[in-house]
Amino acid sequence: MDQLHATVSLNTQRTVGEISPLIFGGFAEHMGRCIYGGIYDPASPLSDGRGFRPDVMDALKDINFRIMRYPGGNFVSGHRWQDSVGPREQRPRRRALAWRSIETNQFGLHEFMEFAGELGTLPMWAVNLGTGTIQEAADLVEYMNLPTGTHYSDLRATNGHADPYGVKYWCLGNEMDGPWQIGHMDAVSYADKAVEAAKLMKWTDPEIKLIACGSSNTEIASYPDWDRTVLERLGDHIDYFSLHTYAANRDNDTDSFLASSVAFEGQADTIAAAVRLARAKNRSKKEIYLCWDEWNVWYKAGGDGGNWEEAPPLAEEVYNLEDALVVAQWLSTFLRKADVVKIACVAQIVNVIAPITTRPDAMFKQTTFYPMMLFSNHAFGHSLDVLVRAPIHDTALYGPVPQLDVSASFDPETGQGALFLVNRSQTRVMEVTIRWEDVAPEGFTRGWQMSGTDPKAHNSFEQPDNVTTHEISVPPLDGRSATLALPPLSFTTLLTRHTPA
Ligand code: AHR
Repeated sequence: MDQLHATVSLNTQRTVGEISPLIFGGFAEHMGRCIYGGIYDPASPLSDGRGFRPDVMDALKDINFRIMRYPGGNFVSGHRWQDSVGPREQRPRRRALAWRSIETNQFGLHEFMEFAGELGTLPMWAVNLGTGTIQEAADLVEYMNLPTGTHYSDLRATNGHADPYGVKYWCLGNEMDGPWQIGHMDAVSYADKAVEAAKLMKWTDPEIKLIACGSSNTEIASYPDWDRTVLERLGDHIDYFSLHTYAANRDNDTDSFLASSVAFEGQADTIAAAVRLARAKNRSKKEIYLCWDEWNVWYKAGGDGGNWEEAPPLAEEVYNLEDALVVAQWLSTFLRKADVVKIACVAQIVNVIAPITTRPDAMFKQTTFYPMMLFSNHAFGHSLDVLVRAPIHDTALYGPVPQLDVSASFDPETGQGALFLVNRSQTRVMEVTIRWEDVAPEGFTRGWQMSGTDPKAHNSFEQPDNVTTHEISVPPLDGRSATLALPPLSFTTLLTRHTPA
């Protein structure tokens, strides 16, 4: 079959914006086996004295998460943070209503901060605005961030941590627009409560940054009115506004699924426009950035809840090649929207809709692990405004869509560039010519590729390396351009080296 042809034009001076490292974030929820049996598993023969799994920690470190949202998710809207501190034997067992599970509280606030510290990731803490009060939210900020000398900061010291933790990023609840949420509210009620919580939290620690709940998905009837209303009423009190999205291929329409970045970009544009509208309406100059704090592919594994067990297996999605190609497009979307998207957290990190799956004696990396690792470790500096000319393909969901999805970064300080390319075609090789309009690099330094003939191919404990990335030989430069052939159903990462300015 004939090859497809595309051109990608780059100009290191034509940029979208600065890439925030916080777009490479994760999310750890007390749901299913994410915490218990995932990052904390004292019963596993592989665990260290603290109950952490070194194999899991190493894999998470490879992804290089810069920020980690915790402790939920739907879980947080019924969570009493005071349960999760103090001597372990005195911590209560409770029903976690959101996930029909039993929460033992054996992994709590201090354990998470130790985990995040070891991972080298910033914590992003969600407060309970479902059953929780604005006072409890402010008390939690006091516990976390104030020097000793007050009730809750002294309690933190009594519990073993005299120094303030200095948690900077705080979510004002979770998905409060959803009827499934404990304490669900309409947009006005949520905004009114969130304003009061924000006041108390910022009075307690003026250094913190606040993230408000946006719509939990784009299908819900209140989208995007919820967003507009909340932004208008809450805008002056917050620093970020959240988006949640789970992509799906329920109808097995792979052509449409592989064009999912069209939907991601549309959602980012809509919410960025709502931010601008609210600013104009409020005559406000406050910058509010987008925080995509739940994103992933999720549609195969159910996650409705357990049967009042501890850590029941929930939402243990098995990711395949096409899912990894969509994850690569998510990350490229964050680069292409680098001017507005400043935080993003993949939901979640272990076992629950996650890039890593464990059992007590082993773990394996899902297909989606690899694009997360490559973007996080190689996209630095500016996001480039890439000009792509590629053949167009008709899709049922999005109409005509280019067969090639591209993002690129360039760091003027180090001279390193990175290109991320997805060939969406299921059957045809794409020959791509990459051209630098201003200054050509010295050359390509490294490249990696993931590809296959079966979009449903996946990894497992038995075949952990069925779908991975492998290093490829990089194309030679011919003046200001280079040409390479991308296999069908492929994700390619290329690094370049410019002479630093
Ligand atoms: O990430 C799983 C769940 O999905 C979260 O708890 C909730 O916020 C979302 O609906």
